[in-house]
Amino acid sequence: MNARLEQLSDAWRDQVGEAAAWLRVRGFAGRVGLVLGSGLGDFVDALEDVHAVDYADIPGFRTPSVAEHRGRLVCARAAGVPVIVMQGRLHPYEGLPSTLLLLPAAVMACLGVEVAVVTNAAGGLNRHYVPGDLMAIRDQVDLHFHDALRGLFRSPLGGGAVAADVGRVGGVPHLYDPDLARCLVEAAADCGVPMHAGTYASMYGPAYETKAEIGMLRRLGCDAVGMSTAPEAVLLRRLDVAPVGLSCITNPARETGQPELSHQDVVEVGNQVRDRLARLLLAFLPRVGGAQRQ
Ligand code: HPA
Repeated sequence: MNARLEQLSDAWRDQVGEAAAWLRVRGFAGRVGLVLGSGLGDFVDALEDVHAVDYADIPGFRTPSVAEHRGRLVCARAAGVPVIVMQGRLHPYEGLPSTLLLLPAAVMACLGVEVAVVTNAAGGLNRHYVPGDLMAIRDQVDLHFHDALRGLFRSPLGGGAVAADVGRVGGVPHLYDPDLARCLVEAAADCGVPMHAGTYASMYGPAYETKAEIGMLRRLGCDAVGMSTAPEAVLLRRLDVAPVGLSCITNPARETGQPELSHQDVVEVGNQVRDRLARLLLAFLPRVGGAQRQ
């Protein structure tokens, strides 16, 4: 059996295995996984040899309730690299159990991706960030305050874990792969896309943050805030897929006196950065094989 599938708890293994088998016979395979966040789904237009299925047609998958999340799994080539793309994701605030929330990411892992680029729309906490900027996620602060992987694995620490692994993510010291994050920043410099590197705060949502929360997140040293990504990154790392995090800053985190932020505002900036994101990812993906994974 697939070594990744084998690590999952009995109940989840069947669910993930069924969806992965359904996709495998339809030709779904890839080296790199891509999760496209709010307003970023159009990156699919920059791909070649596209083959897509709606989440609604994949056994066990749920369709996202957020309108701008298309809800398709795409198998394609990006600059020659075979990729599997989640065009839209579910969010913790949609209230689904982790078995459904994390099913697409687990299935991508079981289809064999080695690296996953997890993107999101985020509010800028760092005062130097402006809407349209991109940020490589160096690390995250997960403010969901629960273990998204609870009950999803056979062993709480993973097969063969020893006491020294307690407190580590999947037995390694880093959540986001530091070499791949550096490689992403270098790719941005080479293709002329402005890029930051910083810490992502993941909030439960769905409301945007209060002034007090924004102050707290800044004091914690967070540079960007959103409502996704953290659970997927932890799952992927645990399954020995190297996560690369990429935030698209759609707005300055809201403070008193600033106009209300609508989801539509977030999506519109997402649309504006479409070209930047495409340039960056098409420059980054062919380098993935060369970067040393940790
Ligand atoms: N806060 C949380 N999530 C977001 C934001 C924000 O300001 N912008 C885009 N997603």
